[in-house]
Amino acid sequence: MRLKNVLYGLSFCMCVACTGKQQERKVDVDEALNYCDEQVHRALSEFHNGDSIDYTLMPKNILSGQNTWFCKPADKEEWTGGFWPGVLWYDYEATQNDSIKEEAEKYTASLKFFAEIPAYDHDLGFLIFCSYGNGYRLTHNPEYKKVILAVADSLATLYNPKVGTILSWPRNIEMLGGHNTIMDNMINLEMLFWAAKNGGNKNLYDIAVSHADKTMQNHFRSDYSSFHVAVYDTLTGKCIKRCTHQGYSDDSMWARGQAWAIYGFTMVYRETKDPKYLDFVQKVTDVYLKRLPEDYIPYWDFDAPDIPNAPKDASAACVVASALLELSEYCEPENARRYSEAAEKMLVSLASPAYRSGDRASSFLLHSTGHYPNNSEIDASIIYADYYYIEALLRLKRVYEGKDVLDN
Ligand code: GLY
Repeated sequence: MRLKNVLYGLSFCMCVACTGKQQERKVDVDEALNYCDEQVHRALSEFHNGDSIDYTLMPKNILSGQNTWFCKPADKEEWTGGFWPGVLWYDYEATQNDSIKEEAEKYTASLKFFAEIPAYDHDLGFLIFCSYGNGYRLTHNPEYKKVILAVADSLATLYNPKVGTILSWPRNIEMLGGHNTIMDNMINLEMLFWAAKNGGNKNLYDIAVSHADKTMQNHFRSDYSSFHVAVYDTLTGKCIKRCTHQGYSDDSMWARGQAWAIYGFTMVYRETKDPKYLDFVQKVTDVYLKRLPEDYIPYWDFDAPDIPNAPKDASAACVVASALLELSEYCEPENARRYSEAAEKMLVSLASPAYRSGDRASSFLLHSTGHYPNNSEIDASIIYADYYYIEALLRLKRVYEGKDVLDN
């Protein structure tokens, strides 16, 4: 058990001793994981049409008022294709049910083509590390490792050494006026770090670190809220513009963008152990926590003008809950307790009837917002909310069992 976990464990024990309470756990994590498993079975029975099933069709969203998943074919232009295989891997981890493992394997296989085509954009980490990454973690299938290493190399082709970051959207160079990097791209660095230490090219580590450093320099305001997009001069590498794509305005704090920053820099600290990232991510976290509404689930943008009537984004809450459980393992005791308590509050809200899909749909959760300015996926179930939700539950279960938060 790591030092921080020991400290968290001590503070937990003292708390129990002081209050005399038997039960300090705020979340019934087994009940929540059982609920997720039931919804997974419900979704799978929707997808099994008679005996046939198309494993290339990946659930993406359930729009408000609908109750079954809208699915899209696995395709280079669809960034969410890896989350459903990832949900199945996590459900298999929770249940050890071999029939779920078989489903996870079959959906995962539909993404293999990413190892054989040039990089379309930065989303390769979401696509391959949620699917093949979890699959490899749980099975050690050597074929999965080959795919991850090939796709990590493919992602690295988007790196511009003059700028020091990965080009997130090659298709938008003209529209945005240069080499663009978005906050979401932070998550895709995890696959590069993994590849560098698991037989892939060692320079993938340097690419990931450089990308994180440039993002830290150029994507944040003085209060540590983040810009969604930074645009760089391709030739000089200078940052020439900061703006939004999915947020309310260039100056607003888009909830999921900040969530990607919290998750991403926590992961970069884990991989590098450089304290500058740990210090930084706590500041990025604190501006997010300070501005949350009472139920700890953010509005889709912290500066949306119609708060408190603005739509929520449960997906951001899921990403942050998962990240905070990890971050609390690395922090000093006071922040460790603050962050783990905040994560529990988020998970308590997400388990309530206000956020659970329950009988209303075969997803885990309601009330996420995908792309508000495009009028797309507003107040919907979205597959990546479910992915980070079940990930957070598994992390919390390990914390409650006194284990390291990550199963690595
Ligand atoms: N990566 C796109 C999003 O967060 O919506």
